[in-house]
Amino acid sequence: MTQSNLHVAIIMDGNGRWATARGLPRAAGHQSGAEALRRIVEAAPACGVDILTVYAFSSDNWKRPPLEVETLMALLAWYLENETSRCLANGVRMTIIGRRDRLPDSLVERIDAAERATRACARLELRIAIDYSARDEILSASRRATHLADAEQLTRQRFEELLGETRPVDVLIRTGGEQRLSDFLLWECAYAELVFTNRMWPDFQPADLAHAVREFAHRERRYGAVPQPPEVVHDHWLR
Ligand code: FPP
Repeated sequence: MTQSNLHVAIIMDGNGRWATARGLPRAAGHQSGAEALRRIVEAAPACGVDILTVYAFSSDNWKRPPLEVETLMALLAWYLENETSRCLANGVRMTIIGRRDRLPDSLVERIDAAERATRACARLELRIAIDYSARDEILSASRRATHLADAEQLTRQRFEELLGETRPVDVLIRTGGEQRLSDFLLWECAYAELVFTNRMWPDFQPADLAHAVREFAHRERRYGAVPQPPEVVHDHWLR
């Protein structure tokens, strides 16, 4: 992986606790979370990030109280509408990953419009995961794979094609103090560096992103292999 396609993924956790700690409704935490996202998107290219994937609404989030789900859907629609011109001006391409068939029509319309308007932008790719479940993506690809005539045809590369747009993640950041993946980009995170921070998402700053990228993105990743330059081959083992 070269720096030219550095992929950072973020689980934006802690909005609710941030709000509760301030005596505010949870919705205020999500609103501040949306503002934090705007800051981070603006700062990402200067941090060397080319692809930024953020977890905005997991498929398990449908289990939240209906009013909170409604608030999040409205906030997502508002964000897409409001940020499209800023993204266009800043060269940010917006794409949405996840299911669309359970989203309100009005949100799907905003998604289509945002993707259409920004599709030629190439400075940063902002992927927003909405109604997303990595396990469901893997399950759908597996279902598609059963149509292959011969199981031997199913190589890792072929399976990745069936998964759709996969981008290996270099750095996965989770805010809010929890240390788990919560069904996010499980395939793509196979060799990601994991960064967990106690900072609540609304408090996350561009400096935190810069720090994570500096610390983790350029670590040597061996993908299971042992690096062994020719001069350190220990021939006494061979004698
Ligand atoms: C997790 O915090 C956050 C979410 C479930 C939603 C993420 C949404 C945003 C950051 C704002 C909107 C996003 C966009 C793209 C406009 P939580 O509510 O689980 O917090 P808690 O763990 O403190 O309860």
